[in-house]
Amino acid sequence: MAHLPVSFSSIAIAVGVFIAVYIFNAQRKGRLPPGPRRAPIIGNAHQLPTARAWLGLAKMSKLYGDLMHVDVFGQSMLVVSSRKVAIDLLDKRSANYSDRPIIPMIELTGMREAFSLQPYGDTWRNQRRMVAQHFSTSYVAKYHALQERESRILVKKILAKPETIEDEVKLRTAIIIVRSTYGYYPQDLEDPMIAIPVQGMKNFNKASQPAEFLINILPSMKHLPRWLPGTSFFKAADEFEALYRKVVDDPYNWCRENLETGKALLPNICHDIWQKNPGNPSVYDHSQMRSAASSVLGAGLDSGMSSALTFFMNMILHPEVQRKAQLELDAVVGTDRLPQIIDRPNLPYVRSIVAETFRFMPAIPLALPHAVTEDDIYQGYHIPKGAWILPNVWQMLHDPAEYEDPMNFNPERFNNDDEAMEYAKDPAFGFGRRVCPGRLFAENSLFAIVSTTLATCKILPGLDAEGKEVLPSGQYTNGTIIFPEHFNIRLTPRSSAAAELLAEVIEIVE
Ligand code: HEM
Repeated sequence: MAHLPVSFSSIAIAVGVFIAVYIFNAQRKGRLPPGPRRAPIIGNAHQLPTARAWLGLAKMSKLYGDLMHVDVFGQSMLVVSSRKVAIDLLDKRSANYSDRPIIPMIELTGMREAFSLQPYGDTWRNQRRMVAQHFSTSYVAKYHALQERESRILVKKILAKPETIEDEVKLRTAIIIVRSTYGYYPQDLEDPMIAIPVQGMKNFNKASQPAEFLINILPSMKHLPRWLPGTSFFKAADEFEALYRKVVDDPYNWCRENLETGKALLPNICHDIWQKNPGNPSVYDHSQMRSAASSVLGAGLDSGMSSALTFFMNMILHPEVQRKAQLELDAVVGTDRLPQIIDRPNLPYVRSIVAETFRFMPAIPLALPHAVTEDDIYQGYHIPKGAWILPNVWQMLHDPAEYEDPMNFNPERFNNDDEAMEYAKDPAFGFGRRVCPGRLFAENSLFAIVSTTLATCKILPGLDAEGKEVLPSGQYTNGTIIFPEHFNIRLTPRSSAAAELLAEVIEIVE
């Protein structure tokens, strides 16, 4: 018994040291950023908005601030609602804030291989380099002619059949991307080179939503045996994976096989990537290139379509904006030719419409989530390793302190100042090392659509069955990438000269 006090004191010392270290760590790490009180097990899952999350989260952040912590079944998520915090974390500390979260269903379906969803690391870096090189300023100029021609065909088609606007915008956006990525010119929306990736995007949207699959909330479900009731997500994952393989492999293989036959049109990204990787690419290299190329299609399709529809919708609602742009186009381009992308430096008001379109409704209002690689401290708050970062881009672009009357579509707000336009466009394309590599390309496509439509047509509300004009509701769909709810539209040529210019546009496939 004589040694008991010694033993007791050493335990007391050990406990004391433990408490001191705990307190030191807790102080060093700081508290979590403010957020709603968490319930046991589910955290804040029951308090989060299930529809149009950018609006609900903006409301919550008014109570808790620009860096709000929410917990979903133990997973920390940080909603970033100001540009300052987004830049401080995602740009200035990008080495630690450039990972992507693990979404269990995305992992099960193999889609985590897509480079836009990949973890931050060498494989991602390698593919990012391949894609970024091909969307640099000098490189994207190669695709001006394609973007201009498809925009002109788009206007012709909507003029003839305004009710097909959504399908036409989708088709033309897809053609621009598939043609420039793989050298393939799709014929219509049923063409497998479009239909399969479009289905792949739908699968991605479903697989990435927490509410669609319970496994996204309870990741340990992946260890359950497949025969157990309630595990139908395995079957869905198998189906999604089979389709995802086709999205990645089919266009890539087509391009490889058809470069020699001459059917694959040049220039195209896959061909250029192969040229930059001479010799005999390994299986690994091919899988890298496949993944890089397929991400371009996945990332560019819905986002491009969304922005184009936001433009058309706002033009119906703002005839005064149309008129002002048309005066500029008539003065700069004239009426005996169609605008080109190289006219852009001379068309500040048209540029303002493009910038205001991205500001008014960013296609991905919560951007893509980033994830934190290591524990961090920001403004005294502890940012836990593995936390998701959700930048509420919509809120940043509707901050009344930065944008007067932010819900109004108003290109005048930029005063034709390019710095102000860049400032507004930046958040719509994301942050830090994961910033959208297709931005220049996407801006060119939208500029071609905006300038061609306004130069040649009046954009009017569509008519209902009684022949009365119907204005768009201004509502948007739900999801990661969002679209204006369906609206009716009419185009009429601005003059017989404009109608003739459009009639001359050749629609033959290259
Ligand atoms: C209106 C059109 C577009 C918008 C608004 C848009 C927006 C975005 C946003 C917000 C992100 C996430 C950035 C982040 O994680 O912080 C992103 C990523 C990405 N975008 Fe775009 N994008 C558009 C068009 C395109 C196009 C045309 C391409 C390809 C040519 C493209 C390729 C990509 C890729 C590959 C990524 C993933 C980057 C990575 O994870 O490293 N995007 N885009």
